[in-house]
Amino acid sequence: MNRRIAVVSGGIGGLGTAICRHLVQSGHYVIAADLAARAERIAAFREETADLAHAIRFMPLDISDFDACAALVREVENEFGRLDVLVNAAGITRDTTLRKMTPEQWRSVLTVNLDGVYNLCRNVVDGMCTRGYGRIVNISSVNGQTGQFGQTNYAAAKAGMHGFTMALAREVARKGVTVNSVSPGYCETAMVLQIAPEIRADIIADVPVGRLGQPGEIARVVDFLAAADSGFITGANIPVNGGYFMDF
Ligand code: CAA
Repeated sequence: MNRRIAVVSGGIGGLGTAICRHLVQSGHYVIAADLAARAERIAAFREETADLAHAIRFMPLDISDFDACAALVREVENEFGRLDVLVNAAGITRDTTLRKMTPEQWRSVLTVNLDGVYNLCRNVVDGMCTRGYGRIVNISSVNGQTGQFGQTNYAAAKAGMHGFTMALAREVARKGVTVNSVSPGYCETAMVLQIAPEIRADIIADVPVGRLGQPGEIARVVDFLAAADSGFITGANIPVNGGYFMDF
């Protein structure tokens, strides 16, 4: 099989599903890794991607479990002989002001959103460097760039991802491996749709393009970074936020 092999954590989620679709359409074989407990979502994902079933597979994974990440990576490498692309798209929110935030709300967000990136990257990076090829894309957030009311945990994790991305990019640049992050703004996903409607309306009013992003609009940027001929882009963060935050 000549297809490049991609693992997408959070692969059955709002952004994850769109990322899987784009990667299959650009010629990858994709493993959507996500929590086995999300039974309903797994079924929906299978239905939504039925047309791509020849090149997509669900594998259960709790990214907060280092040994489980190691086992999944070994399984993929043993079966396919390689693992070319890793997209870290798994993420959760536990929004509340710091004055009310419990240690559990802090810890769970940092564990999934940041430790999860370490757990998967640590396990894929040796193989990628040895084989001389790899693409790692970390899904961060505009809120890791700006902060957001009620998101000290999430903003800390997402900003932390940028530091991680830049540091790892330097370590593996000579080995044919690129590491980049994409920072989505507010998109039409379950995560954003759970924000109270009046708060969400205020946020959308501040987005210059005047709407939520579509998951596919994030996925095409991820797919671009995952491509073989994107090898001169590394350590970058690509904002895809409808103009919500502009920087240079
Ligand atoms: N800015 C300033 N003040 C605000 C505020 C804001 N945005 N929102 C609320 N306040 C004020 C309140 O009016 C209240 O004032 P008083 O104490 O004077 O009454 C005070 O701050 C505290 O408010 P609450 O007690 O209501 O705060 P809370 O702990 O219940 O948290 C919240 C509220 C759930 C965090 C709510 O503000 C919220 O949902 N905010 C949106 C968070 C958000 O954008 N999350 C993004 C999720 S999607 C995502 O993360 C994807 C991505 O990457 C983009």
